[in-house]
Parts: sequence; structure tokens; C-alpha cells
Amino acid sequence: MASCATLWFNNTMWNEYFIPATLDETLHLLAEKREKARLVAGATDLMLELERGVRKGIETIIDVTRLPDLDRIRQDENGILHLGPLVTHNDVAASRLLHEYAFPLVSASWQVGAPQIRNRATVAGNLVTASPANDTITPLMALGAWVLLASMKGTRRVSLEEFFTGVRKTVIEPDEMLVDIAFPALKNDQRGTFLKLGLRRVQAISLVNTAIILDLTPDGVRSAVITLGAVAPTILHAREAEVYLAGKEMTDENIARAAELASAASRPIDDIRGSAAYRMAMVNVLVKRGLLSLRAGQEKAQVPETPVLLSSDVKAQIPRALPFDQSIHTTINGKDYTFTSGQEKSLLRLLREEAGLTGTKEGCAEGECGACTVFLDDKAVMACLVPAPRAHGAEIVTVEGLGSLLPLGEGPEPRALHPVQRTFIDDGAVQCGYCTPGFIMSAAKLLEERPQPGRDEIMQAITGNLCRCTGYYKIVQAIEDASKL
Ligand SMILES: Cc1cc2nc3c(=O)[nH]c(=O)nc-3n(C[C@H](O)[C@H](O)[C@H](O)COP(=O)(O)OP(=O)(O)OC[C@H]3O[C@@H](n4cnc5c(N)ncnc54)[C@H](O)[C@@H]3O)c2cc1C
Ligand code: FES
Ligand code: FES
Repeated sequence: MASCATLWFNNTMWNEYFIPATLDETLHLLAEKREKARLVAGATDLMLELERGVRKGIETIIDVTRLPDLDRIRQDENGILHLGPLVTHNDVAASRLLHEYAFPLVSASWQVGAPQIRNRATVAGNLVTASPANDTITPLMALGAWVLLASMKGTRRVSLEEFFTGVRKTVIEPDEMLVDIAFPALKNDQRGTFLKLGLRRVQAISLVNTAIILDLTPDGVRSAVITLGAVAPTILHAREAEVYLAGKEMTDENIARAAELASAASRPIDDIRGSAAYRMAMVNVLVKRGLLSLRAGQEKAQVPETPVLLSSDVKAQIPRALPFDQSIHTTINGKDYTFTSGQEKSLLRLLREEAGLTGTKEGCAEGECGACTVFLDDKAVMACLVPAPRAHGAEIVTVEGLGSLLPLGEGPEPRALHPVQRTFIDDGAVQCGYCTPGFIMSAAKLLEERPQPGRDEIMQAITGNLCRCTGYYKIVQAIEDASKL
């Protein structure tokens, strides 16, 4: 395992961290470490689980983000769509192929978290975490998906129906890695959608969600699939509603009856986010809304065809694994750094405590506020949810390096303020300033991605950033003004 070295840390999150360069190395490691090891992809679930002590007894982290060719979305010669385990929610949201042939999944991925979360979080991680509120499980179940699990013993194919065994429980063995997610592309007569209700419009876990796929005839419905999330320990099919709709016309009465039957199929619990009765009522509302939008041919209206990603190039190649020994070698704001300590921290803490770059702020340390936004290999990410060793061999830009992104001579002086920094000052888009570096990073990445954004695109770009004092009006205005400079 030449490119895969180990460190022992005296800390709470992990004791050793591997960055394998091949799938074979990864499977060897899993076979050797078993229950004591955990794979990490986007780390948006795992970092929090480790910090909160949800996953006990984990000593070893195996970072699979440098494995080659696992970030692909493709269609095979039989029309089956395949997602590699490193495909992120933003990859899905930006995929023309999936927009055309798997729209319910696109809608679900688009509604996960915020752009900085979607740039790192993978669909595979969403499946393996196995919360019944996780958004991509519902559409993948409706699409009839299966996964391929690999270990040193070989591979096995498991349907999603069999994969989940309870709340946060799956059949995956400690020595197995999920290496493929597959499902048939929707056919010409099939149309589908995914709807979600959370306590707010973004950065919200589903209170309930539903995916609906209809096989349509000129007169009505040939067959229907309706799956429901967050209303039982695992994702449910609303079987009676599916049977009821088959062979029926899409009249108001039939739609209302199917929604009632779907609601009756749900078995939600009361919890802090909503009562069981409210959830059942909302299943009725969402299923009715979904069916009405499909009848009107409007199901794609709520999801942008070219979503804001906060990524310069969504297909930017992740640098391949460098041999990882005792040190993290990385580039921050164009300067080379070597860290011999801090490997057990988050990237946010590495930047602040080891590199002394305190412009990046910690607001929540759980991916909610965006104050820690930095660019990691050209994508905006929440640094509090990135393990520090992921910086090894990577390029990072923090707010301290933003002005230097301008080519020399293009600003009034070589290290001129970025236009967004300038307009935040001019427009008074700052009060206490704690959130400001995060907003500026998101806005700067937006303007790199699309120099003349519309108001709606600006709003999309800052959905992951919270400000508790300025209010958003001046922030949006400052971004608009920067786009004119
Ligand atoms: C602020 C915030 C907002 C969020 N919003 C949403 C939301 O709206 N909807 C939603 O559904 N989720 C949401 N999430 C949860 C999370 O982002 C998703 O579940 C995400 O898809 C997890 O992917 P990941 O790559 O980050 O997983 P990781 O954290 O890297 O891994 C998650 C689990 O999967 C395992 N794993 C990862 N890859 C593999 C593999 N290939 N084989 C075997 N095991 C593997 C890991 O060991 C770990 O146990 C949110 C999280 C945060 C922090
Ligand atoms: S999102 Fe990272 S500190 Fe709040
Ligand atoms: S300016 Fe104070 S939190 Fe935004």
C-alpha cells in the first residue's frame, strides 16, 4: 500500500487516517480494520456523527475521495443509469442525463442542504447513513434502484428494498464498500417528480417527502409508483394508492382519493419537528400536489435546469492521492504549506489554528451557517465539515486570498480587493461582520461561475449562508453591484 500511510492521533474523532489510491487498497483496509473503520466521502454526515459520539469505537477513517473514476454518471447499453459512489448531489443536480431520465432524483439532490453541502455530499453517503428522512432514498426506491457492494470476497447486488433494515440500519457489512448505484432510465411514457416539506425552504431535513412516477397512456395512468419518506423507519411504498391509480384517468377525484390512500399508508411518529397527525396530513398535500403537477406537465418547473453550484467547473478533476505520510502538504492562497500537526482536526480548525488564517469563521461547526466557506479544489465547501487531511494535495482559497485571484494589473493595485469585498463595504452590507467572509466567498464563487447572475441565482448562491444582524437586502444588493463592476 505504497500511497497509503497511517497516523496515530490522540484525539476524539479518529486515531488513524488513510487516503488510499485504489479500490483494492480500500477493500484490503476494510477487511483488516472492519468495525473499527469507517469510509468517508463528503464527510457531511460522518464528521457530525464522530463529533457527537453517535458512531462509537471508530478508530480508522478511510478517505475514498481520491479513488479514480468513481465520480461518474453514465448510462449503459441496456439503458441502465449508473452513479459512482463519489457522485455528489451537485453532480446530480447539474446532470442533463439525469434531468431527462431520472428527474425525481435530480429534484431530491437539488433540495439537499445548500450549495456548499451539495458540492461535497454524495448520494452514496446519503444511502448508507440510512435516515428515513434522507432525500435521495425515496426517489431511488421509486426508480427501482439497486446497489453494488464490494469486498475482498467479491461483489453482491442488493435492491434498495432489501438494503434498508431500519432507522439508520442497512445490510452493508463492515468490510463492504458501496461501489455503484443503478436503476433503469425513465421511458418515454414515464414521468416523475419528488416533493419535500421541511421546516424551512433550504437546509432543512424532510418532515415528509414523496416520489411519484407515473406510466402514462393518452387517457390516464397505466401504472403508478408512490414512495414516502420520513413517515416510517424505512421508505414506504403507498401500495393502495399505486393500485388505485392504475388504469384511472387523472381526474381531480381520482387524484384526491390517491392522496388520501397515500396518507393512510404512512406510519409517522411525533417528534420535535412535527406531530404524526401533521405529517399524515402533509403526505396527503404533497402527493396531491405532485399528481397535479404531473397532470399539468409542470413537475420540472421548480428545479432550475442549470442550477447554481458554487463550483467553477463541476467536473473539475479531484487531484489524485499523493503519498500521505506524517504531514499534510497543501496549497493555501497560492502558497505551499506543510502541517505536521492538526491532522485530527477539521479543515476549518487547521486553517485557523495551524495556518493562522482566522478570516474563515466558525459559526456553528455543523454545516448550517456558511461562515466557514472556503474553496477546496475550486468548489465552495463548508470547512467545518472537511477532515483536515483532505487538504493534502489540494488547493484551498480562503477570504485572505480572494483579492489575489484577480490577475495582476486588473485591479487598481496588484492585490486589490475583490469586487465583492469592495461592494460589501460601499453598500454597507456588514454589521458585526462575523458572517461576512462566508458570504463573500459564496458571492465570489457565484460571480466566477456566472458573471451576470439574476436575483434568483444570487438567492440560490447564498442559501447556505446565515446573517443574524445585517439582514439580506444589502448583501444581495452588494452582490448585484459587484456583478456590474
Ligand atoms: C447542514 C446539512 C444539511 C443537510 N441537508 C440534508 C438534506 O436536506 N437532505 C438530506 O437527505 N441530507 C442532508 N444532509 C445530510 C448529508 O449531507 C447527506 O446525507 C449526504 O448525502 C451524506 O453524504 P457524504 O458523502 O457527506 O457522506 P459521509 O459523511 O462521507 O458518509 C456517510 C456514511 O456513509 C458511509 N459511506 C460513505 N460512502 C460510502 C461508500 N461508498 N460505501 C460504504 N459506506 C460509505 C460513511 O462511512 C458514513 O457512515 C445534510 C447535512 C448537513 C450537515
Ligand atoms: S457552516 Fe461551518 S461553521 Fe457554520
Ligand atoms: S453581519 Fe453580523 S451576522 Fe451577518
